[in-house]
Amino acid sequence: MVKLRENEQKTLLVLEKLGGRAAVEQITSVSGLAYAAIMRAALVLKAKRLVKIHEQKQTTVTLNQEGKLYAQRGLPERRTLNAAYQKGGEISISDIPHEIDMPSSSIPIALAWLIQKDWATIDKDKGTVRLTKKQKPPKGDDEKLLALLARKGTVVVEELDKSLRHIVATLRRRKLIDTKERTLHELELTEQGWKLIKKGIEVSEEVSQLTPELIITGKWRRKKLRKFDVTAPGPTVYPGKVHPLQQIVQCAREIFLEMGFTEIRGPLIETAFWNFDALFQPQDHPAREMMDTFYLANPKAGGLPKKSLVDAVAKTHENGWTTGSKGWGYKWSREEARRLVLRTHTTSETIKYLSKHKTPPIKVFSVDRVYRNEKLTYKNTAEFHQIEGIVVDKHVTLRDLMGTLKTFYTRFGLRKVQFWPCYFPYTEPSAQAVFYVPKLKRWIELCGMGMFRPEVLAPMGIRYPVLAWGGGLERLAMIELGLDDIRILYGNSLGWIRRTPLCL
Ligand code: PHE
Repeated sequence: MVKLRENEQKTLLVLEKLGGRAAVEQITSVSGLAYAAIMRAALVLKAKRLVKIHEQKQTTVTLNQEGKLYAQRGLPERRTLNAAYQKGGEISISDIPHEIDMPSSSIPIALAWLIQKDWATIDKDKGTVRLTKKQKPPKGDDEKLLALLARKGTVVVEELDKSLRHIVATLRRRKLIDTKERTLHELELTEQGWKLIKKGIEVSEEVSQLTPELIITGKWRRKKLRKFDVTAPGPTVYPGKVHPLQQIVQCAREIFLEMGFTEIRGPLIETAFWNFDALFQPQDHPAREMMDTFYLANPKAGGLPKKSLVDAVAKTHENGWTTGSKGWGYKWSREEARRLVLRTHTTSETIKYLSKHKTPPIKVFSVDRVYRNEKLTYKNTAEFHQIEGIVVDKHVTLRDLMGTLKTFYTRFGLRKVQFWPCYFPYTEPSAQAVFYVPKLKRWIELCGMGMFRPEVLAPMGIRYPVLAWGGGLERLAMIELGLDDIRILYGNSLGWIRRTPLCL
């Protein structure tokens, strides 16, 4: 004997009433049960071979504002054509806007479609549109679909005539319609289902909610508790949520906070002094060239810190100052240092912080935006985020730095991290952290790192070792989100944002 639960019985009976086959929405309104409740029941009924579940994708189309306007007044090419007819087959392009009260921004669209549809040719010398045919061309499929949409409001693409279905894509490209996709579920009674209804259904009593009363009285021992099927499909909901890239930013932030770091932030616009000079990057360093750095046109220059600090940096560049280094051996320019740049890395904030905080222990980080004059490609954007940080303490070494970063990336979910030797003008030794991406079958760079050189530390008045690192965040985001094009992170495609789960 098949025993059913109440919702399953209800679903079957409503289905019978509706003739044996019905959409879940319809069953919802007749039975008063929630969509998810019916889907849950349907899965059980399907397992018992009492119903079949049919799934169907449906695309609905509606006119947007421009579409409505065109449906009402006619497509720009049609209106231009009509005007040309009235004028005997030829109309001057400059006359179109006032002849038919059309904004001049629509003219290029009208002309392009007149040609595309072979309704007219353009006489460039005379600046006119000349019609190609004696007869007015009949309504095209695009115009028919516009009219249908204006009449009906919404139509289902799959239910359209073939001749109109093919034109949907064209109207979408012309940005005259909005389309929405949804999945419809339909239930159908099987032969066994019909038989069972005829015989009469026995309902098993089950409790779906454990109440205080059931617990206190001990009745729960004798009741049958209903099982939940958490995999049963429900309606899709798209709640508002934090952008996936921001989720990763927050995640990086939380990991550093948990590791005992404090966050620092600074301005997006910096003087070259903090972005380059304070980091012992010579003024003719290739990274400073226009190719990589965005220099501000207006205002061009900013202020420098106190004289003793600037002098110390200048001397270190010129001859090494008290550091024992020979420096770079050139004449340091104050003007060059005052130039304003969009910061190319957040190391500018770290070094600025060090100029004011000299007592260990120090553990600070930042996750913030930086700018480089890069061509926009699948792997580069001109604006991106860096994860940056420093540790200052009496006896810290490169080993501590590797340990810190290993911990950070492990918490991020990256296990296979290695450290390779590398070069930066402001650290010695220098290294880079790399991560193996099995999908790409190669190692990719996570961040640059190292211990600040004496030439960087002495002018700031720091007497302890400083561990420093900085690297891109978007790379991490791409690995985490499974993307192979960085531009998706900034494209604001609603579809992608919706599809990306809230909990990464
Ligand atoms: N600033 C370097 C970059 O942008 C990274 C780095 C930071 C390297 C600190 C060493 C120390 O690539």
